[in-house]
Amino acid sequence: MKLFDVYPLFDLNFVEAEGSYLWSDKNEKYLDLYGGHAVISIGHSHPTYVKMITRQLHNIGFYSNSVRIPIQEEVAKLLGKASGYDTYEFFMCNSGAEANENALKLASFHTNRKKVICFTKAFHGRTAAAVAATDNKKIIAPINETDNFIFLPFNDIEALDNTFKSNEIAAVIIEGIQGVGGVQIPSTAFLQKIRVLCDRYESLFIADEIQSGYGRTGKFFAHQHANVQADIITVAKGMGNGFPVGGVIISPKIEARHGLLGTTFGGNYLACAASKAVLEVIESEKLMQNAQEMGDYLYEQLKDNESIKEIRYIGLMFGIELKTPCAPFRNQLLKDFRILTGNASCPNTLRILPALNITKKELDIFISAFRTIARLNAKKEEVNQNRKTVLT
Ligand SMILES: Cc1ncc(COP(=O)(O)O)c(C=O)c1O
Repeated sequence: MKLFDVYPLFDLNFVEAEGSYLWSDKNEKYLDLYGGHAVISIGHSHPTYVKMITRQLHNIGFYSNSVRIPIQEEVAKLLGKASGYDTYEFFMCNSGAEANENALKLASFHTNRKKVICFTKAFHGRTAAAVAATDNKKIIAPINETDNFIFLPFNDIEALDNTFKSNEIAAVIIEGIQGVGGVQIPSTAFLQKIRVLCDRYESLFIADEIQSGYGRTGKFFAHQHANVQADIITVAKGMGNGFPVGGVIISPKIEARHGLLGTTFGGNYLACAASKAVLEVIESEKLMQNAQEMGDYLYEQLKDNESIKEIRYIGLMFGIELKTPCAPFRNQLLKDFRILTGNASCPNTLRILPALNITKKELDIFISAFRTIARLNAKKEEVNQNRKTVLT
């Protein structure tokens, strides 16, 4: 049987990883500044993470949600403390899309309404409701088409106001910072307006923190930089540092009842051990502080680079918008310097999402490679311009 060919692949086979480094089957060492789409939060194969999952597996790996699983409560307690949402409740699932699917379903159950506001360049996952809230027609199958999702321009307060006035809105779903869309940061005023309107019209504010959460921006959740509280927060990616796990953090104003949500694998012992390890390491190694310091350092080092049009960042969530398409630049980083970075839906934006414990020394490797490529490309461009002048 062949694999269903849906991923454009780099010809790389990683066989080992530690911290921010990966080793290929050819024993070549790569610096990871992307964490496999923002998943690696505490570094590859962190010793605490390996120890806690291994120990858990030796005790018990799985039983279903038909019995008490106390480690779920431990994760919820740690998460409440780390995020400041300690009065909220927690539902565990297996992925980001599933978290958003459940969040949207909850909002609809709670308000008994159908319409959801979402935004241009948004990405919320590939399941039915999550993909319908995603601004990419290419991944919406006919079966997912619905007019329940109203797309508004990002950061447009007037459009938001008008849409609330003329529709019965169940929820607004917004990423803490848009990731796939190219690291687009919602303004404080915009997030605060969403809060005000959701309160006024008894709608729910869903913050999708799947990519921007778990300390990546220096606060536990990106929307907390705007001093707002959401009603539902979705998490995944960095939550498990590679172990598949997701979750929905739910305001106490939303009432639970048996059967409202459910999953076979969600909240299993191993996912909980992974989640617990991540939260413990974020706290004990002060990784939120490191994310902020390293992010500011990276920004300072790159901000005056001639090849850059704009840098959008908070903490360690970076969209570096180049003046030229990012694909060749990214390939040069990979082929010539063995550095993994990401792209985004806007073609000029390079996405940098390192582990939260990345060091200055590791960032310096990237900074030096970036400057070298930018210099070489500028020189090439100058030669081309001169050639054109000579020929005309
Ligand atoms: C903001 C956001 N929401 C949801 C998802 C979907 O997560 P998953 O791939 O785990 O389903 C992603 C994945 O990239 C994401 O970036």
